[in-house]
Amino acid sequence: MGGILIAIDGPAGSGKSSVAREVARRLGVVDISTGAVYRAVALVALEEGVDHADEEGLVRIARKMELAPGGVRYDGRWISGEELHAPEVSGVASRVSVHSGVREVLLPVQRRAAEEARRAGGAVVEGRDIGTVVLPEADLKVFLSASTEERARRRALQSGMESELDEVRRAIMLRDRRDTERESAPLRPAPDAVVLDTTDMGFEEVVEKITALARRRSGSSAGG
Ligand code: C5P
Repeated sequence: MGGILIAIDGPAGSGKSSVAREVARRLGVVDISTGAVYRAVALVALEEGVDHADEEGLVRIARKMELAPGGVRYDGRWISGEELHAPEVSGVASRVSVHSGVREVLLPVQRRAAEEARRAGGAVVEGRDIGTVVLPEADLKVFLSASTEERARRRALQSGMESELDEVRRAIMLRDRRDTERESAPLRPAPDAVVLDTTDMGFEEVVEKITALARRRSGSSAGG
């Protein structure tokens, strides 16, 4: 038993994390951002001088990660969201995440967090490979997309970098390329995902749509 599990995937700037947070709030469940564990590995690697090509070194770091709805813990220490979202960490996170050894170690870490949250009432879990690899049995899978231009605009607005739109766009395109072209668990919609192109959709509209889909799914599973 337990609550609903919703997987939300999509590229950088697609609105995944704010959408996941709001959908979770409306459904009364928790939200889990899986990018946090990749970011945390990147952050610790930067701090400890481990190169992003040193798979063994990165795996060693990944083994000490724990993920919870509230955030991520490394070797027992909570890492702040602010540290995780520094721009240099975003770039290194997408480099760290191409290593299959790192992904292998972080897979059960993400599954454990999702399973605990599901048992406690349900969860919205967001990332790049949640519907395809981490939670292929999720009750609802959503893939959010939007044009590169729109995603760059949203990201720049969100981080107060409107004057550096070109730079933000370049960083997003680089990250997209690494995330979609990697061999291990590349970013792509699950065959049974609902794909939402949000280029011309407002935040409220996206949230409404996913919340309605979720209510319908949990209604039908509760009914038998
Ligand atoms: O979603 P967020 O921007 O926090 O993710 C940071 C990076 O972590 C992504 O660019 C991606 O390379 C990686 N990631 C991943 N699989 C996930 C979540 C994030 O590879 N499920």
